[in-house]
Amino acid sequence: MSLIRYLAVAGLTVAVALPTGAHIEKTEPMQSLRQSYFALLGMTFGPMADMVKGKIEWDDATFQRWASDLAGVSGYQVERGFAPGTEEGMTRAKPEIWLNTEDFNAKLADFRREAGKLASVAAEGDRAAISAQFGATGKTCKACHDEYKSKDYLY
Ligand code: HEC
Repeated sequence: MSLIRYLAVAGLTVAVALPTGAHIEKTEPMQSLRQSYFALLGMTFGPMADMVKGKIEWDDATFQRWASDLAGVSGYQVERGFAPGTEEGMTRAKPEIWLNTEDFNAKLADFRREAGKLASVAAEGDRAAISAQFGATGKTCKACHDEYKSKDYLY
């Protein structure tokens, strides 16, 4: 058994892989935790876009997996990351979120609904339908970013 495999089996990889500079610290602020949610969305949405646009080779199983990851992550209760008092700091979240919380939450609900549909459509395997639903999902990201995400960090 190789050393790495041994460490993985023994559950020691974390200690080995993260000696310094771990992303998530116990003192991690909410702003950073909520950004992790969106980073995970980007991590699947980006390559799905590449597949839909033909920049990388189409593969049904891989697309289905990403779509199901996106739908799964979308349901995570990121609302907690926008608790009152987290308007400031290292963030691209616009202050309007805390003034229009209902609308922000409605946009989050739109996104979750469309991401859920994308996972179902992907499972059916019809590429034209998948592309259309991918576009519909992307529109819900954009609708929220247009109103509530700034391009640059606001300190
Ligand atoms: C309901 C609103 C909303 C929706 C829907 C939404 N976003 Fe965002 N997104 C934000 C906000 C607000 C931020 C900035 C968070 C911060 O900096 O605190 C953000 C940040 C990001 C970031 C930067 C994360 C980082 O590491 O700082 C990425 C990438 C991202 N979003 C991708 C997406 C993708 C892809 C989708 C759709 C699949 C999506 N978002 C849907 C509001 C939204």
